[in-house]
Amino acid sequence: MEFFSLKSKNAVVTGAGSGLGYATAKRFKEAGANVTMADINEKTAELARELGCHFVKTDVSCEADMENLMKSAAEQYGKLDIVVNNAGIICPEELLENADSKTYESLFHVNVMGVVFGIKYGQKYMNDGGVILNTASNSANGDYAGYGPYIMSKISVVGITKVAAIELAPRKIRVNCICPNTIDTPMAYADGCETELQVMGIQTPLARMCKAEEAAALYHFLAADDCQYITGEDIYIDGGLKAGPANQMIDAILASLEK
Ligand SMILES: NC(=O)c1ccc[n+]([C@@H]2O[C@H](COP(=O)([O-])OP(=O)(O)OC[C@H]3O[C@@H](n4cnc5c(N)ncnc54)[C@H](O)[C@@H]3O)[C@@H](O)[C@H]2O)c1
Repeated sequence: MEFFSLKSKNAVVTGAGSGLGYATAKRFKEAGANVTMADINEKTAELARELGCHFVKTDVSCEADMENLMKSAAEQYGKLDIVVNNAGIICPEELLENADSKTYESLFHVNVMGVVFGIKYGQKYMNDGGVILNTASNSANGDYAGYGPYIMSKISVVGITKVAAIELAPRKIRVNCICPNTIDTPMAYADGCETELQVMGIQTPLARMCKAEEAAALYHFLAADDCQYITGEDIYIDGGLKAGPANQMIDAILASLEK
């Protein structure tokens, strides 16, 4: 038996045109899967051609687009085995007292409903025994002031993951979500990530960002048939952040107290 092979598995990855989604699609392809790459950005078509993947232009916040994506992927390769609901957006830093409902709505539509539709239509076109992986964030465990709307969206991803795991268990479909610390992708440098980018290195025991390829390795692990007893989990890949304060952070606090 070849460990962690994805040979002949039919996979869909949303947000596959950049960062984590692209790294995951590439890794799945290299592990033997037939991969459908979905993104709102049409330039993803070129990346898909280069990797030998199928591309479907998709806005994950649009229910009709998501049904079309899963149907098209199943028509292209056969019934689905793996769906990665990964597309997401961030918003500018804003305190709760200032954030308006439009900010919450846009994050909710993309980050939450994108996952909800991915589960609803992914499972519909999926073989029993399949896998659904949702991208949440370490923000689901709490985050800096000014990140409220994003935290709201990512905590919702954890919740929907858990109920989906229970509802789909009779079909042996496993549903998990991944909670990464800051990943070195375009999103990490976007408006809204300034505080995180400044302090994450000092706050994180491993003192650096996660590489997209390192996070993709976790998706590969969870997608493989070797992992058949893991479901309903929120799994952190955070360089030790949740374990406790980094030594360099303690040193910095002590140094500032001595001044
Ligand atoms: N980068 C980080 O620090 C970090 C940390 C934790 C979690 N995440 C999460 O990881 C996921 C991937 O983020 P990334 O860092 O690769 O970001 P990224 O900006 O590099 O890539 C996101 C991709 O999603 C696509 N996308 C955005 N809105 C879409 C929509 N409505 N429909 C379809 N595609 C859409 C974009 O076109 C882009 O290709 C997101 O859910 C994000 O919230 C990122």
